[in-house]
Amino acid sequence: MSVQHPLRALTKRTATPSQCLYHQPRIHHRSLATVSNGSSVAPPVTQDSTSKNGPTAMVFMNMGGPSTTDEVHGFLSRLFADGDLIPLGPLQGYLGPLISRRRTPKIQKQYADIGGGSPIRKWSEYQASEMCKILDQTNPESAPHKPYVAFRYADPLTEEMYSKLLEDGFGKGRGGRAVAFTQYPQYSCSTTGSSLNELWKWRQRMESPTRNTNLTAAEAEGSIRWSVIDRWPTHPGLVEAFAQNIEAKLQTYPEEVRDSVVLLYSAHSLPMSVVNRGDPYPAEVAATVWAVQQRLGHRNPYRLVWQSQVGPSAWLGAQTSDTVTNLVKKGQKDLLLIPIAFTSDHIETLFEIDLEVIHEADELGAEGRVRRAESLNGSPVFIKALADLAGSHLRNGEICSRQMGLRCPGCKSEKCLAQKQFFTGQTERANEAVAL
Ligand code: FES
Repeated sequence: MSVQHPLRALTKRTATPSQCLYHQPRIHHRSLATVSNGSSVAPPVTQDSTSKNGPTAMVFMNMGGPSTTDEVHGFLSRLFADGDLIPLGPLQGYLGPLISRRRTPKIQKQYADIGGGSPIRKWSEYQASEMCKILDQTNPESAPHKPYVAFRYADPLTEEMYSKLLEDGFGKGRGGRAVAFTQYPQYSCSTTGSSLNELWKWRQRMESPTRNTNLTAAEAEGSIRWSVIDRWPTHPGLVEAFAQNIEAKLQTYPEEVRDSVVLLYSAHSLPMSVVNRGDPYPAEVAATVWAVQQRLGHRNPYRLVWQSQVGPSAWLGAQTSDTVTNLVKKGQKDLLLIPIAFTSDHIETLFEIDLEVIHEADELGAEGRVRRAESLNGSPVFIKALADLAGSHLRNGEICSRQMGLRCPGCKSEKCLAQKQFFTGQTERANEAVAL
């Protein structure tokens, strides 16, 4: 099968164990009211505040997708310009525009086939807004919680989100707290890392006195204080939400075959050059899969498979489409595909799995027995999980996970280093003790 989606081209501070996040140590703010050098108290934001530490900006970061077919070219242009996601080497500036121009008509057709655009903005805005409503109840000390969305390749872009934060009364001498909450549960330098690089870039342009010479000293001193929820692959609420959607879909199979349905957890693949650099994503996706399998009681056989690879270079496998084809040809027709690395529907589920992989399986005789579990989308269990995760992060004064400061063993990117120094240290200066 020829699959043609663009992305297959795709402190000295206290470190104490978190009570619930990812079961690993997190790095904490020493005090919610103390700035990173420990010498002064950040001025409060000037907008209406209903609590001592509020308001708090909750920023959902994701790759995004074109909401209309007219937005496809801009989306592809940004995507192929991103060397963190699609490394094209020194020719990136030349090849990126060429590839995006060439692919635009085909990808526009794919978005037209799934209804005219990606639903990811609709779902992200809904999830962020519903999560904030819960947080206002569970975390009154940091209320109100204000939802924002920052996409890497589609509107609303990171710079648009940052401008809105400043318009809404954060930063520019007024301080305030913002949480960058990745909507990729498993960390990859291609996805969450790329979004954090972009956030750090715009933070420097808008709030660093060395980059923005229009800032007064007071404005520079009262910049936004960022913390990051950078990974959450085994959060119990996430695992429960996945498990419930799998159980619901398994109910659609006849009882006598239900326990022999093969579960195929499908995640976006990575080029092997990224895997061999030491990217944490494959291990974290496997951790999610194992946790979901544990919750399900290992009643069904399963495999973790990888989708959306593009181009001639080596990618992490086995490929989702090949795996489905091979199993159906061998007579194993009862297969359940589970998107395990994205939290809402997108073109890789609605087009690639639903319209390509499942369609081709039916052409091979699968008789409608290859199915897909629902994406998390508006699942109340999932939205409650987001609120639990964020609420714990806020209450504990965390800055990021302990993993954030450790770069991939093969990373040579100065951008990665600077970004990690900023987010792990929340300071203009390097913090060699944390970011390595
Ligand atoms: Fe992974 Fe730079 S590529 S930290």
